[in-house]
Amino acid sequence: MTTARTTAELRQAMGAPRRAGQTVGLVATMGSLHEGHLSLLRAARERCDLVVMSLFVNPAQFGPGEDLETYPRDEQRDLALAADEGVDFVFAPTFVQEVYPPGFATTVAVAGALTEALCGDPARRGPEHFHGVTTMVAKLFNVVGPDVAFFGQKDAQQAIAIRRMAHDLDFPVEVVALPIVREPDGLAMSSRNAYLSDDERRRARALSRALRAAEQSAAEDGATVESALAAARIELAAADVDPEYLEARDAEDLEPVQSFNGRPVLVAIAARIGRARLIDNVVIDTGG
Ligand code: PAJ
Repeated sequence: MTTARTTAELRQAMGAPRRAGQTVGLVATMGSLHEGHLSLLRAARERCDLVVMSLFVNPAQFGPGEDLETYPRDEQRDLALAADEGVDFVFAPTFVQEVYPPGFATTVAVAGALTEALCGDPARRGPEHFHGVTTMVAKLFNVVGPDVAFFGQKDAQQAIAIRRMAHDLDFPVEVVALPIVREPDGLAMSSRNAYLSDDERRRARALSRALRAAEQSAAEDGATVESALAAARIELAAADVDPEYLEARDAEDLEPVQSFNGRPVLVAIAARIGRARLIDNVVIDTGG
């Protein structure tokens, strides 16, 4: 496994394999790797000749007052895990200036509901969060030139925005979203779970329970979006979790949905538990 510290090194390393026609898979991460990340690396290893992983806590996607400084970092551990999964190249810039040099002035922004709904609501993380993500991912797509890029359904809105960006800007890449990897008790794996105390960790289970309840309710005869969300709210209230949002939206364009109308519906939740802001979601297939 080779670790590239600069964009120039990474671009240089990608030259020969790409000219040789090798297929390239990209897994973008902010490190602090867990089984969710590893599932993406395994999928990339299975499908592609060459696997590239990026490891960079991207300041452009953190808002003021968010956890940029305290975000968990352990590069040695992450590099060892990546090597175990058969990653070929890791892009781990040492300095933020490598990615955002002085004078950097460009933003790649997907507009509309895809970045303004749910986490992108200006009262929440805001669309700038997603603009920071798409700017970073566009840079990675340009330098790495992946054939396939693997993302997690855990960040469903992020995957949708990235797919839109790749399509709109003609990046010749297939954007794949893979299922959420969970702890045995249902909690979606996240680097931010490290912020939870034992008691908060127990309460955090309510998020996945609430989504299960919504899914079960949706499967009942005569179910409505409201009854499904109400079933979820009961689980949250039982654990004293007050969500930042709990919403049902079209799983493809994130427009609000009033009924289960045969199209896949994304039920998404965000909640602050202690210091951690957690997100989770389920896609309910209402096609019958
Ligand atoms: P990060 O939070 O490190 O996540 C990297 C990738 O792992 C994302 O595609 C995310 O959806 C996926 N992932 C995280 N938890 C998962 C889980 N429990 N199951 C399955 N996949 C999971 O997302 C980012 O970093 C950044 O925004 C990034 C795309 C790297 C751009 O900076």
